[in-house]
Amino acid sequence: MSENTVSIHLEGKEVKLPVVIGTENEKALDIAKLRDESGYITLDTGYKNTGATKSSITFLDGELGILRYRGYDIAELAEYASFTEVMWLLLKGELPNASELAAFEASVNAKTVLPEGFAAMQRALPAQSHPMAQLASAICMLSGYHTGNLAAVNDENIHTILGNFATVSANIQRHFLGKNLVPADPAKDFVTNFLTMAFDEEPDAAVVDAMDKLLILHADHEQNCSTSTVRIVGSSMANIYASVTGGITALWGPLHGGANQSVLEMLEAISADGGNIEKYVAKAKDKDDPFRLMGFGHRVYKNFDPRAKIIKKACDNVLEKLGVNDPTLDIAKKLEEIALNDEYFVKRNLYPNVDFYSGIIYKAIGFPTEMFTVLFALGRVPGWVAQWKEMRENKEPIGRPRQVYTGYNLRPYVSADKR
Ligand code: SDX
Repeated sequence: MSENTVSIHLEGKEVKLPVVIGTENEKALDIAKLRDESGYITLDTGYKNTGATKSSITFLDGELGILRYRGYDIAELAEYASFTEVMWLLLKGELPNASELAAFEASVNAKTVLPEGFAAMQRALPAQSHPMAQLASAICMLSGYHTGNLAAVNDENIHTILGNFATVSANIQRHFLGKNLVPADPAKDFVTNFLTMAFDEEPDAAVVDAMDKLLILHADHEQNCSTSTVRIVGSSMANIYASVTGGITALWGPLHGGANQSVLEMLEAISADGGNIEKYVAKAKDKDDPFRLMGFGHRVYKNFDPRAKIIKKACDNVLEKLGVNDPTLDIAKKLEEIALNDEYFVKRNLYPNVDFYSGIIYKAIGFPTEMFTVLFALGRVPGWVAQWKEMRENKEPIGRPRQVYTGYNLRPYVSADKR
């Protein structure tokens, strides 16, 4: 990373700011000294133009539709890697060799066995509460069932949350559906183990392959809303469970990971409304209508989300292999075609994102719609943990943004009888 400086002039004073240039030639002004040297801060609501950190984990180029984990292109990883390989890659920075992968898989799979009594705690949660509420509660509560320094960056804490997360997620589905919990089987590979616990049956090979691919595609996405939340919670030295719980609650929002559930609900609403796609496209364009085309648009991608392209292709394969004929897939494809030829969406660079097609596959596999964001979280947890680890290993300071105050100036207290 090379550095030079730029000068800005504020009230007659010259302030020199270092320029930071990343390995993909992204350029940033380092404003760490700005307030000390000028009294000014910067303002960027929603952090649309603000880098929170330097990271070597994931690179994405929104204009070109590029996504890479540790330098490897997402399409190659989705095609050739396994989810557990990608977990290792995100955490360690390199693809594992055979012995590293075998030891890692054995360790994480062993951790799919939950602590004594934890399943009963999960069953004590209201079965019909939203699975994301159950997930946030359960993952945070794991800190009450594990001992040791849970804020330490070590394999024990990391492997444990990765393994426990799969079983907690499967238990939530079973509990939500009013069914028996299925014990983990560490002898199975990670995805087969998860699917067996979630459905209490041996999964079809095509389903294991599709799920593995979906988990890879969701594994990390640099400084998105939920990952930034994990980093800022972790920056207070909160433990790994508390930090990941912050990510879960941020992901739940329909503008973020909750969109995969909203997309399916939208497609089913269009289907129920006689497939009147034009009506919903018009609603999405109408400024007076709060309706948005869920699964469309992205803060960073102003081109196709590369993950959406891969998932769209996988949709056709999986539904064909499972012999599922789902009208919502046809509606999704038609909606995409109409939107991509509509000036409103073209002008705003609104393309399908990762959430647009994923729910159709989850539905074909048999997951209830309310579980979709839990599945997003299961994929994202190695990314959250890798970013948490990087933040802590880089000894980053506690995150504490500034503000510009726009309230009252000083005024005296007024007693109640004079108000
Ligand atoms: C994820 O950041 C990540 O990396 C996230 C993620 C990850 O892997 O972690 O990729 C996962 O969260 C994907 C996004 C899932 N969310 C959705 O699908 C919800 C629908 N999309 C939007 O709400 C929106 O596109 C966002 C939230 C994704 C992005 O919003 P921005 O960047 O804040 O953009 P904006 O709201 O300022 O929109 C710019 C314009 C506006 O119109 P104008 O005011 O310029 O006239 O585009 C319009 C918006 O009204 N617009 C949409 C739209 N998305 C944006 N109009 C209709 N439908 C949409 N979906």
